[in-house]
Amino acid sequence: MASVSLISESQPWKDLKNHVEDIKKTHLRDLMNEVDRCKMMMVEFDGLLLDYSRQSATQDTMGKLFKLAEAAHLKEKINRMYDGEHVNSTEDRAVLHVALRASRDTVINSDGKNVVPEVWKVLDKIAEFSERVRSGAWVGSTGKALMNVIAVGIGGSFLGPLFVHTALQTDPEAVACAKGRQLRFLANVDPIDVAQNITGLDPETTLVVVVSKTFTTAETMLNARTLKEWIIAALGPQAVAKHMVAVSTNIALVEKFGIDPNNAFAFWDWVGGRYSVCSAVGVLPLSLQYGFSLVRKFLDGALSIDKHFHSTPFEKNIPVLVGLLSVWNVSFLGFPARAILPYSQALEKLAPHIQQVSMESNGKGVSIDGVPLPFEAGEIDFGEPGTNGQHSFYQLIHQGRVVPCDFIGVLKSQQPVYLKGEMVSNHDELMSNFFAQPDALAYGKTPEELLRENVPEHLIPHKTFSGNRPSLSLLLPSLNAYSIGQLLAIYEHRIAVEGFIWGINSFDQWGVELGKSLATRVRKQLNSSRTRGDPVEGFNHSTTTLLSKYLEAKSP
Ligand code: F6P
Repeated sequence: MASVSLISESQPWKDLKNHVEDIKKTHLRDLMNEVDRCKMMMVEFDGLLLDYSRQSATQDTMGKLFKLAEAAHLKEKINRMYDGEHVNSTEDRAVLHVALRASRDTVINSDGKNVVPEVWKVLDKIAEFSERVRSGAWVGSTGKALMNVIAVGIGGSFLGPLFVHTALQTDPEAVACAKGRQLRFLANVDPIDVAQNITGLDPETTLVVVVSKTFTTAETMLNARTLKEWIIAALGPQAVAKHMVAVSTNIALVEKFGIDPNNAFAFWDWVGGRYSVCSAVGVLPLSLQYGFSLVRKFLDGALSIDKHFHSTPFEKNIPVLVGLLSVWNVSFLGFPARAILPYSQALEKLAPHIQQVSMESNGKGVSIDGVPLPFEAGEIDFGEPGTNGQHSFYQLIHQGRVVPCDFIGVLKSQQPVYLKGEMVSNHDELMSNFFAQPDALAYGKTPEELLRENVPEHLIPHKTFSGNRPSLSLLLPSLNAYSIGQLLAIYEHRIAVEGFIWGINSFDQWGVELGKSLATRVRKQLNSSRTRGDPVEGFNHSTTTLLSKYLEAKSP
């Protein structure tokens, strides 16, 4: 197939556009009766079960989506990513987060060099250092064991590790490994976040890990300086060497900050911030908390999906299937949002993490060649664990806007509770909702059904559910380090698939720059007004008024 600059000009895209009319004539209520269709729309891999039978799609739709993948050269793009080519062309970088979980003997070349030995050099250093801290061989400046870790970082240097930590902290195996240790995350530059993080902690028993790919991010550097002062005020300047370590690609700036480069854990510019949880960004704080062996299981779960994604035909390839269906929902059916609904409290931070991975990756308006997109790309991701979400925004997704949903369930709970006299266990109760909600969305409830139930006529429009609302269900065998790694990699690759189909660069993030540079101007103004009493100048009427009001308030 000849290359086209925009995928929307390809024949498969046009065929899918025409196909929308066919799909609009179907209803999931009927599609769910087609057993062969439903069987085809289930995929099992390495303990996982994906059921996408509740997508507004037929076998014909899937065939057309596979043709679209061909037209977008999806296979070639995936291979180019795994081969270390500079697929992030606007930053001229390879995209190799898969190398972070590769086994020791794998060869992944980028720019003529096998990157896997470097990855393992850092992993070995983390394994050794975290063991020393956990065993008490590395102690604080007053000789006390370092039982608490504060990881200072934001965005990709925070959300992924927080997601994994939150998912692990109730897993019995992880709890046993944590042995009473604490891991906290300081992200927001808001002094309230600083206060919340240091409350109840003693600098004597605390290790601060400064996590920043660039080591220039304003919020992280200010928070790092604040915690440095906190340590120095309590223990003196010499304590920094024992109480502060760093994770960065910029070791020169780590040293300039005052952290010994020997206590720095490197990663590389071929790891995107939002794809960095499997680098030292996540592996160091998580290993300090749970030990490296457990964290290796997390990396192995991701590795299992990496292999599956790289080698499985598209018809059975979980990240490819869910990625293609997202493109179908967004660009053809016109549903701009996606709800991430894990029926597991431990996955409470999945949606916030995926928000960054997805929206920073695919929230783009131009193709990778800089051509404005004549279609919408990217999704608005949001979510809450079930059943909490049911009592919050589910009203809208049942009777308001159509929001394709990801239902994620776990066969065995981390914490089973059986209450005597109850009909089912807590987990059964939770999972009853997990099984019921997708059908409620798909089937809805008709006015005829309501009439048969003697619902008063005036309430029938209010109690009618149109149904035909797409979702997919993903079942995990249990929630542990391995399956958390699998889940992470499914989403990472799904988002890459979407970007590859849309023909955008999912690995840059120029959209975050403008706000940062405007904040620099405001920061200078605040400083000169506070120190020299300079008037607010050079801003529009609105900002001048707001800034002046803020300066008048003289916060402490
Ligand atoms: O928000 C923009 C961003 O550049 C993210 O992509 C990144 O994850 C985050 O800032 C933090 O950057 P760093 O790790 O360099 O401090």
